Amino acid sequence: MPRLASWFETDGFAPRSMDSMVKASLDRCSVAQNGSPERSPSGAPALRVERLVKRYGDFVAVDGISLAVERGDFFGFLGPNGAGKTTTINAVVGLATITSGKIEVFGHDNARQWREARRLIGLSPQEYNFDRYLSIRDVLIYQAGYYGLRGPAVRARADVLLDKFGLTSKANETFIRLSGGMKRRLTLARALIHEPPLLILDEPTAGVDVELRIELWALLRELNANGTTIILTTHYLEEAESLCKNIAIIEGGRLVAMDSTAKLLARRGSATLRVTVGNPLQAVSPALAARGARYDAPTRTLQFEGIAPSAIAPTLGELQSEGYTIEDVQFTRSSLQDVFLDLVRR
Ligand SMILES: Nc1ncnc2c1ncn2[C@@H]1O[C@H](COP(=O)(O)OP(=O)(O)OP(=O)(O)O)[C@@H](O)[C@H]1O
Ligand SMILES: [Mg+2]
Repeated sequence: MPRLASWFETDGFAPRSMDSMVKASLDRCSVAQNGSPERSPSGAPALRVERLVKRYGDFVAVDGISLAVERGDFFGFLGPNGAGKTTTINAVVGLATITSGKIEVFGHDNARQWREARRLIGLSPQEYNFDRYLSIRDVLIYQAGYYGLRGPAVRARADVLLDKFGLTSKANETFIRLSGGMKRRLTLARALIHEPPLLILDEPTAGVDVELRIELWALLRELNANGTTIILTTHYLEEAESLCKNIAIIEGGRLVAMDSTAKLLARRGSATLRVTVGNPLQAVSPALAARGARYDAPTRTLQFEGIAPSAIAPTLGELQSEGYTIEDVQFTRSSLQDVFLDLVRR
């Protein structure tokens, strides 16, 4: 597979302030549609969801979720299968009518000002919904048309995106002739065709190989560093842990946690240091006991649970000053998966 191009290798992706991205987005929209879009209230969050409820008949899929995603955030929207993530996203982008609640995109009410709200979002949906008979270049060009964007600039941007996502050689193929990973890349390219300041990705890396996943992470990080707000839904929790600044976890249509990734990880707080010593320990000295040491004689391993990273060096220093040789050191801390399972374990 060709290496994915950096955003900086092609035109049109220079870093911009969020206000200028939102304004440019709406200006393109108004030029194309001869309208006069309402200006985004400066400083409004990229997304605000208030007491969102979505029922399917008697079934409550989303049960009063409220959240705010600040401009420039890389926000993880996580939860087990059936938690209501895609339903919430569909409500945000206007694909599902809501039962009650309020949704604002950069301050635009997505019911009353749906045109502005929709214009500001790029969606990479969980399920493919491509026209099977269009070439993939036309998929991108038609998508731009939904926002009233057409002409040579759109065709040029489609080609830039095909290049960026390593799809140029397939530009004239139809969607069904792409591999799974190519379909994922096309989905992302389509989400970006109108340069949205808010990108919503519903499981963008499902079924993607490790190499492409790492490349997509780099592209998403770069896009976010250049000012795009990103909301990411994924079941790969290490992916969310490494990419997201803030995370909401939902279950059964309800919010169960929303915090910075660092604070969520600190909730469990169990970091463990394991040190294997070369010469057997006769007894745990008072100094080591004070650091919480437990000794396992058969493996000659000392274990320090709940240790702060700053205490690692002094602990190893203490062992050396007591005359022990250090054969192996392991430091593990809670992962987002541990925190997630604590919160949603059923
Ligand atoms: N059109 C629909 N009609 C009836 N029920 C639906 C409909 N769409 C979704 N649901 C139900 O709403 C609940 C939430 O579904 P949703 O697709 O939002 O979950 P999700 O969090 O995206 O899960 P996954 O991780 O599996 O994608 C599920 O119980 C699902 O069966
Ligand atoms: Mg889903």
